[in-house]
Amino acid sequence: MKKKIWIFIGLFVIVFIVGGGLLLYSWGVFATSFKKANNDTLVTKQQTLPIPPLLEDKNPAPNKAEFEITARDGTMEFFEGIITNTRGYNGNFLGPVIRVRTGEEVSVKVTNELDESTTLHWHGLEVDGENDGGPHNEIKPGETWNPMFTINQPAATLWYHPHQMHKTGKQVYEGMAGLFYIEDEVSDSLKIPKEYGVNDVPLIIQDRRFDGDGQLDYELGMKDSIVGFEGHTILVNGAVNPFVEAPQGMMRLRILNGSNGRIYNLKFSNGQEFYQIASDGGFLEKPVRMDSLTVGSGERAEILVDFSKVAMGETVELQDQGISFMSFVVNQASDKVYSIPEKLTTIEKIDERKATTKREFNFQGTGSSVSINGVQMDMDRIDEEVNLGSTEIWEVGNFTGQTHPFHAHGVQFQILDRNGNPPPDNEAGWKDTFLVKPGENVRVIATFKHEGIFMYHCHILEHEDAGMMGQFLVEP
Ligand code: C2O
Ligand code: CU
Ligand code: CU
Repeated sequence: MKKKIWIFIGLFVIVFIVGGGLLLYSWGVFATSFKKANNDTLVTKQQTLPIPPLLEDKNPAPNKAEFEITARDGTMEFFEGIITNTRGYNGNFLGPVIRVRTGEEVSVKVTNELDESTTLHWHGLEVDGENDGGPHNEIKPGETWNPMFTINQPAATLWYHPHQMHKTGKQVYEGMAGLFYIEDEVSDSLKIPKEYGVNDVPLIIQDRRFDGDGQLDYELGMKDSIVGFEGHTILVNGAVNPFVEAPQGMMRLRILNGSNGRIYNLKFSNGQEFYQIASDGGFLEKPVRMDSLTVGSGERAEILVDFSKVAMGETVELQDQGISFMSFVVNQASDKVYSIPEKLTTIEKIDERKATTKREFNFQGTGSSVSINGVQMDMDRIDEEVNLGSTEIWEVGNFTGQTHPFHAHGVQFQILDRNGNPPPDNEAGWKDTFLVKPGENVRVIATFKHEGIFMYHCHILEHEDAGMMGQFLVEP
């Protein structure tokens, strides 16, 4: 008899908890839609696509470069007459493009003028742990950090962003991110568009939510902390729905998904095809023809798109899942004629037999319990020890109900297979971030050439901040 009563009480408690949860959830949905409604009163400022400035190299010596970056507060006018508080590097929102060459010795002075600690991480750069800018390289307010490194990898479109423990999502969201270009002899010799901001154009794609006052809203609802942040408004280079004047010819777009959590599926409104020429870590061996491109947060892709069949004066829009968020106004006579190169570069395949160690990384959990291999990030715990110079196979699995982008610092991987099948052609190059679908198993290989402590994590920043991250130590 007593047992029955306890079962009854137990059921009651369960119903109470589930009911309460549902109520909270629907309130979240309601509150979000209310905010969205408020948003409709904001009038988007019509503007051309902002092109981030190229950062000046202060060291005149050949083969050496010196840069200065300051993290600071700023303001932007995303909407007519509305001042939005932001953060940026050397400016109000985002940062300048740092452009270096393979072999160059680089020194960067990073000053923190914010009222909180930050770090500056070089996403995709192969450098030692102490120059990587992960959570251990904290820059306190008013301090300057001076990483130094020699560029030791091929031409690529990389990026930089904060990596402060538990604050990466918020700081990136407020505007802190920038691009980092590496050029080399291969990129010099290719006959592809190279005029910065004219026919070689960066597209930093980020989604944001604005509150009724037009301020950036990073209050995480239940859905945001479970699946990652998704905003209603997509910004490109810090502008809402911008347009860019395009040549009636070939354009090179360097795309960065700089969003906190959203995965994009990009297409052109006229359905036209394009060619992917580079993945995260550099050029693919050959251009890959495609008509849609999936990019997870943190991933990059360079594409060539040929507008020569678009009528003068016509507009082509760039869309995510069918919704336009920027447009190309084809109104410039193209003075140069480009063709799609047959071959871009040579990528030496890392031989699987060279691998001395195999490791498994499994995405697990949900919400505040997200983890890799069942453990959450702890600054004082090294999860994996890797021998300097060794080649390893990492096998990444996903035991959750959603897709996660896996990223590791200080290395570039080659994808061996996805569920035992060779990766698609546009993933057959260097990758530092790759999507892993629920139930999928992705095997990658890399040679670890740099010493120090590095992170591996989910690049949905809400997951990273919640602990879906671990550390590996590379040592001789
Ligand atoms: Cu793009 Cu650990 O970062
Ligand atoms: Cu990184
Ligand atoms: Cu994740």
